[in-house]
Amino acid sequence: MLRRAWAWGAAGLLLAAALAGGAAWAHGDRKHQDAPQEQVAPTPAKVAQGQRLFRRYCAACHARGGGAAKQGPDLGGLYQRRLTPVRKHPVTDHNIRQHIKKGGVRMPPFPWLSRGELDALVAFLKSR
Ligand code: HEC
Repeated sequence: MLRRAWAWGAAGLLLAAALAGGAAWAHGDRKHQDAPQEQVAPTPAKVAQGQRLFRRYCAACHARGGGAAKQGPDLGGLYQRRLTPVRKHPVTDHNIRQHIKKGGVRMPPFPWLSRGELDALVAFLKSR
């Protein structure tokens, strides 16, 4: 009888610990938008997809390291910078995704791009 009560108590403690851990994780996730699980790994497939999207949607206004000056800033080496060239926001995957989705003053927004496409663009911008 006593042993059984102890076992239930232990199970309850484990459950409580698991719940607390889960809540802490969810909270951290919301607070730090660039938590590791939010960051894009620039795998070759993602970079290639991003390059195709960049050519289609972005290259008219953005160079990538040299070439003629265009309407938007040159995005070559973006991830070597701490702040974005025009708005001076920290260069994080989250901020870059948001900028692409919402656009800028003269840059059009791209609200229809899927999360996968935004991540591919981020991967491409990260790649050099
Ligand atoms: C019609 C031209 C145009 C197109 C198309 C365009 N941009 Fe821009 N982009 C701009 C201009 C102009 C700026 C300067 C900031 C502003 O407009 O507020 C800019 C700024 C940026 C910045 C820097 C923001 C900062 O805070 O300094 C990034 C990153 C960027 N664009 C990414 C992209 C990506 C990725 C695409 C394609 C999905 C894209 N742009 C398409 C014109 C364009």
